[in-house]
Amino acid sequence: KKGNYDHFMQKEIHEQPHSLTTTMRGRLRDKSVVLGGLKDHLKTIRHSRRIIFVGCGTSYNAALAARPFLEELSGIPVTMELASDLLDRKGPIYREDTAVFVSQSGETADTLLALEYALSNGALCVGITNTVGSTLARKTHCGVHINAGCEIGVASTKAYTSQIVVITIMALAIGADSISTQSRRESIINSLSDLPDKVREVLRLDNEMKDLAESLMQMQSLLVFGRGYNYATALEGALKVKEVALTHSEGMLAGEMKHGPLALVDETLPIIVIATRDACFSQQQSVIQQLHARKGRLIVMCSSGDAASVCSGGSCRLIEVPLVADCLQPVINIIPLQLLAYHLTVLRGYDVDQPRNLAKSVTTQ
Ligand code: UD1
Ligand code: M6R
Repeated sequence: KKGNYDHFMQKEIHEQPHSLTTTMRGRLRDKSVVLGGLKDHLKTIRHSRRIIFVGCGTSYNAALAARPFLEELSGIPVTMELASDLLDRKGPIYREDTAVFVSQSGETADTLLALEYALSNGALCVGITNTVGSTLARKTHCGVHINAGCEIGVASTKAYTSQIVVITIMALAIGADSISTQSRRESIINSLSDLPDKVREVLRLDNEMKDLAESLMQMQSLLVFGRGYNYATALEGALKVKEVALTHSEGMLAGEMKHGPLALVDETLPIIVIATRDACFSQQQSVIQQLHARKGRLIVMCSSGDAASVCSGGSCRLIEVPLVADCLQPVINIIPLQLLAYHLTVLRGYDVDQPRNLAKSVTTQ
């Protein structure tokens, strides 16, 4: 039921303080985490030579968002695979690998075929899904349910943020045997407990995102630049805009800007730059300066109070978001982009919950 909302996508965006709370319920202790579905397998995972994430669409993006923190805490190389590409290449997978399959529905054909492939190669196969009893949950050796509640809108929103949180908790569990990262782990556990409140705070940008959508109504195309923890935010924000607002949009790694995309910049093409505070902040400041120098039409997402540091001199539109721990910032930063995609779609009069040509669960190849 949609309750007071006009669309499921809108309801699911606004539900995120609650869905994240249920995702974390029973899994956070004061200084440690508990994942019932992984505890008997943590040793094997810690000894694996490589962790491979496999997924499609938004689920792939969620794994990409959580990858830096998993690499940091585990010290294990973490690689990313789009399920269809892994199958096309028959990429090598070994017994010493841990393959983590991420899927909201647990029924995506490409992801399930990649799972069969990894199982036949002897890897430990871990599932991360929202659907209890799904094929993914049944066929993996172990896994974690994200417990975000049923997601109906074809555009995945609350499942994305819950997937990031679950993979972050998984990283905390894998890294739990290390003394050197203990204080880092404790600070992330504290930030996880505060996260639903911060999500409530960022949802207050709803009207502002509606205004922004109005100003972008006529655009033909939208670029989104991110890096580090928020490279995934750029990909996922652009995916939302193309999928529901039926508008061309590309998420790009800001570090690649000079290697091609910069040629597209002019006074008309809107560009969102994600420049919240983290270790990549100064690089993003210089990206903004370079885009200003080329008179780009900039929309900068920054941490609250950072307007002057990101946009001195030039003109740009700002989206100010609450600051949280660096590895959790993608959970906050995607929300204004989900709202933007939603409002653009409604303004343009398209079907929000059932975009043309798409299905919620892609069960054929
Ligand atoms: C489980 C219960 C939960 C209960 C909690 C209390 C279920 C589904 N979950 O949650 O209701 O409140 O104990 O301690 O009954 N699994 C896979 N592949 C996947 C996902 C999960 O094999 O893709 C497996 C897990 O390894 C685990 C089981 O399914 O054996 C349940 O996973 P999960 O719900 O995440 O476990 P808990 O959080 O412990
Ligand atoms: O159910 P899954 O998470 O496996 O679905 C994967 C993709 O089909 C899905 O995320 C798709 O990209 C969404 N419609 C994005 O909003």
